[in-house]
Amino acid sequence: MSSFPEIRPRRLRQSPAVRNLVRETSVEARQLVLPMFVREGLAEAQPIGSMPGVVQHSMDSLRRAAAEAAEAGVGGVMLFGVPAVRDAQGSGADDPNGILNLATTALVEEVGDALVVQTDLCLDEFTDHGHCGVLAADGSVDNDATLDRYVSMALSQARAGSQLLGLSGMMDGQVAVIRQGLDAEGFTDTMLLGYAAKYASAFYGPFREAVDSQLTGDRRTYQLDPGNRREGLLEALIDEAEGADIVMVKPAMGFLDVLREVRDNVQIPVWAYQISGEYAMIEAAAANGWIDRRAAVLESLLSIRRAGADAILTYWATEAAQWLDAR
Ligand code: PBG
Repeated sequence: MSSFPEIRPRRLRQSPAVRNLVRETSVEARQLVLPMFVREGLAEAQPIGSMPGVVQHSMDSLRRAAAEAAEAGVGGVMLFGVPAVRDAQGSGADDPNGILNLATTALVEEVGDALVVQTDLCLDEFTDHGHCGVLAADGSVDNDATLDRYVSMALSQARAGSQLLGLSGMMDGQVAVIRQGLDAEGFTDTMLLGYAAKYASAFYGPFREAVDSQLTGDRRTYQLDPGNRREGLLEALIDEAEGADIVMVKPAMGFLDVLREVRDNVQIPVWAYQISGEYAMIEAAAANGWIDRRAAVLESLLSIRRAGADAILTYWATEAAQWLDAR
């Protein structure tokens, strides 16, 4: 006598032990990268209102937090600098004594053997107009003039000891010119992360507070339109062809389809950036008691991995690594 139903997928969900054994995707501490903000002139860490739990670091608190991240087993840290003074060219970006470059050297000294010290390569924190590049006379962002600034910034970051440069400015040709510029100075081992599919997202809001952004207007002439999936893949293919070692999809949760598409079509590692607004939404809902914070954070990371991310930049990196370790 045959019983119905014959096919019972629930068999593989019957206990935690079975579910553990058949789970297709996992998140490991080594796959998490912690973005960190360091602000010039701070004597102690300062909270960021729209990102509860995230701070602008002083030099001292930066070192301590990076050591804690290394202890938790995260794979890397991505450093952003907030300068005291800004100008039209973003001069603080390639000043060897600029906050980002000084902090990079400090971090390499502190944790450079344990994890990969990475730096954001973009002008927006350093310009008085807040754009990711320099401006032409008509006020538009000048792609090719910006590339010269990026090469200079890349060289100062490499000299400061950065092991991996995060090219987040979305200028055409940035991977190729920076690779050439680094190689010409002997920095052939400095890795390049191309923020290939970086979308003009409303969810960057809290980050603007985190870096004290001076931007008025938007970045829609250089970041991708959120309606475009094919274009995200195109950008990733271009970055791979220009010599990127890794490509990025950003934001993460609203763009999981793009992430999957990119993962299926390039050969190099694909990372995703779970951005400030994604962080803020979960923190806000959790603070209201509307969702289980830890379960929501871990599910969000698992989902980004499942969609194809080999590693994830997330503000929860250290805490999530500690949870994963304790399991
Ligand atoms: C640009 C940059 C941004 C973020 C990372 N790099 C802001 C932007 O493009 O407007 C956003 C990160 C986040 O929101 O967490 N340097």
